[in-house]
Amino acid sequence: MNGGARLAGEVRVVGAKNSVLKLMAAALLAEGTTTLTNCPEILDVPLMADVLCSLGCEVDVQASTVTIVAPATLRNEADYRSVSRLRASVCVLGPLVARCRRAVVPLPGGDAIGSRPLDMHANGLRKLGAHTEISHGRVVADAEDLHGAQIWLDFPSVGATENILMAAVLADGTTVIDNAAREPEIVDLCTMLQQMGAKIEGSGTSTLTVHGVTALQPTEHRVIGDRIVGATWAFAAVMTRGEITVQGVDPHHIDLVLDKLRSAGADVSTAIDGFSVAMRGRAEAVDFVTLPYPGFATDLQPMAIALSAVAEGTSMITENVFEARFRFVDEMVRLGADARTDGHHAVVRGVERLSSAPVWASDIRAGAGLVLAGLCADGTTEVWDVEHIDRGYPRFVENLRALGADVARVAAEPER
Ligand code: EPU
Repeated sequence: MNGGARLAGEVRVVGAKNSVLKLMAAALLAEGTTTLTNCPEILDVPLMADVLCSLGCEVDVQASTVTIVAPATLRNEADYRSVSRLRASVCVLGPLVARCRRAVVPLPGGDAIGSRPLDMHANGLRKLGAHTEISHGRVVADAEDLHGAQIWLDFPSVGATENILMAAVLADGTTVIDNAAREPEIVDLCTMLQQMGAKIEGSGTSTLTVHGVTALQPTEHRVIGDRIVGATWAFAAVMTRGEITVQGVDPHHIDLVLDKLRSAGADVSTAIDGFSVAMRGRAEAVDFVTLPYPGFATDLQPMAIALSAVAEGTSMITENVFEARFRFVDEMVRLGADARTDGHHAVVRGVERLSSAPVWASDIRAGAGLVLAGLCADGTTEVWDVEHIDRGYPRFVENLRALGADVARVAAEPER
């Protein structure tokens, strides 16, 4: 891509990656046909479909609609080859224990953003009465009966909250999950489970109370818009001194992000299903601290670094969720960013203009952050391993071009 263009125009954001994959897993909880609409057309959806097929479901992915037919009897062992290609597949654990009283799910393996243990998932299922063991590279959970329990999470983990919730909806009695995650994607999952007949109170708060029922019914559900993608476009508008209107995202899901961008100097206006961000002149430096929702999302930390790299002044960015998520900062430095990290903190002194270089995308969000930086660099920046970006940003290059970016996707990648 050649930096320097001011991005302007409108972009429509579709369903959230981090919602659709859990909703697909939730379809395991009810025999019959579940339909999900507004699904993003990203590779992770067919990969999750493979995981569900390995458990005995029939899955049809047609553009933005996914139809899942769950059988009366599921297979209780997920296939390693499918699971290893998709971290989010661990969220079949809760539904499988709930439906089959036994689940065997291989550990999906390492990740560029830091270690991702499953201890809170396992401890929660233990509290519900499942004998749970992590050994030989897999999680095995066996339960004669699942019964309600009081569960306190050490940290409001998104994945642990989802797995425990999906097991508790079919447990006998009442479960209370305290210090639960409050992300909009958890609320989306609760909404779908409620439509299926689950009895859940406290959705969107840190205390979820679940009254177990004996069976759930399949449903039709529209996936919420992807707040991380929407916010990425907001950062793009500010960094390129442009003006972007985003549709398909509830602006309340990114209240804090939009407030930060206002502090950086942006004009922000919101509507029911979207928002507009306009920027005149150079952004002022602001500090960012990542925290579970409603804090600033760790998935947007690379965008915060990218913005700080070209802002006027010095920013401090603190990462509290994934310990290795600053690794990509070295690639930012290759683009001319004046950035230094020390443990949980990064200090970034903004420069007027970045300088182009070849850089590697190590994960979805780092990749998007590097592209935003490349849009503000002199000369031609090449971002390699862009298939990471594809996993979270459907039609990213097409959308960038429609907004006026000078960017192209080229097939060949050089040897590393
Ligand atoms: N953690 C534990 N033990 C556990 C579970 C989590 O120590 O049993 C720790 C993790 O190591 C991490 C922290 O708790 O330090 C938060 O992890 P969490 O469980 O909340 O994250 P996750 O469910 O694995 C989801 C998203 C991530 C997003 C995080 C935080 C999906 C598929 N992934 O991961 O999204 O960063 O929540 O919001 O929903 C991305 O989209 O690029 C991405 C990485």
